[in-house]
Amino acid sequence: MLVSAKEMLTKAKAGHYAVGQFNINNLEWTKAILQTAQEMNSPVILGVSEGAGKYMGGYTTIVGMVKGMINELGITVPVALHLDHGSYEGAKKCIEAGFSSIMFDGSHYPIAENVEKTTELVGICNELGLSLEAEVGAIGGEEDGVVGGGEVADPKECKMIADLGVTMLAAGIGNIHGKYPANWKGLSFETLAEIQELTGTMPLVLHGGSGIPEEMVKKAITLGVSKVNVNTECQLAFAEATRKYIEAGKDLEGKGFDPRKLLAPGVEAIKATVREKMQLFGSVDKA
Ligand code: 13P
Repeated sequence: MLVSAKEMLTKAKAGHYAVGQFNINNLEWTKAILQTAQEMNSPVILGVSEGAGKYMGGYTTIVGMVKGMINELGITVPVALHLDHGSYEGAKKCIEAGFSSIMFDGSHYPIAENVEKTTELVGICNELGLSLEAEVGAIGGEEDGVVGGGEVADPKECKMIADLGVTMLAAGIGNIHGKYPANWKGLSFETLAEIQELTGTMPLVLHGGSGIPEEMVKKAITLGVSKVNVNTECQLAFAEATRKYIEAGKDLEGKGFDPRKLLAPGVEAIKATVREKMQLFGSVDKA
């Protein structure tokens, strides 16, 4: 069964650990993440960007696939299916399609418009029992063609959005989607501490979780981060394992061209990455 992310994140905030959001890109990704969550007895959030949603054949296809896997694979840990960086229209489509959690990213709107649209979505999500993530201060880097400048959020604006009744709040604290550049300045813990001070028990979300040094991730969790988003590291691990398989000429041996064989090393690499992150975030055995 799909659940909203509210309960798992409330528990995470109180227990000083974080739940991983792992973005899915296809069936193999989804299966690898669900199986690892079950094996680790960890709650998990499956993230779907609008681009990935389109790629996988639309939101209802994804809802069908995820619900089917939860049943067929005997997944009993809490699983939330979450729209990542949703537009206002995308959020409405995912609510209709049966997602259990929504992110409305209004960070590029003037704050008044972000407040107005987030308020409307809070009402809808509350009524349906869905969790809602809002964002203040754009996350840097590029994701699905959307390029952000790596802003640092204004803590007062964070408080304003948190008070609207959202479930969790993403705030830019110098984090970036994708690979971090060599001259990256690191996370702004000062800003994070201020945001946590003003927003109290609100679970905070750290986007761009790939490539942040472990110690920084741990420190962010002590300052109120209860959800960490990871996408690029799984992609890199998958690509590297697949490349090695091809470079070793294994697709040319016997039935090595069968996708079930060809994609297996990549799947194992995703599982290893997810396992490592769940251990780092502290969500193991918290299902
Ligand atoms: P990375 O791709 O940098 O891990 O970021 C993922 C993310 O924040 C999804 O919203």
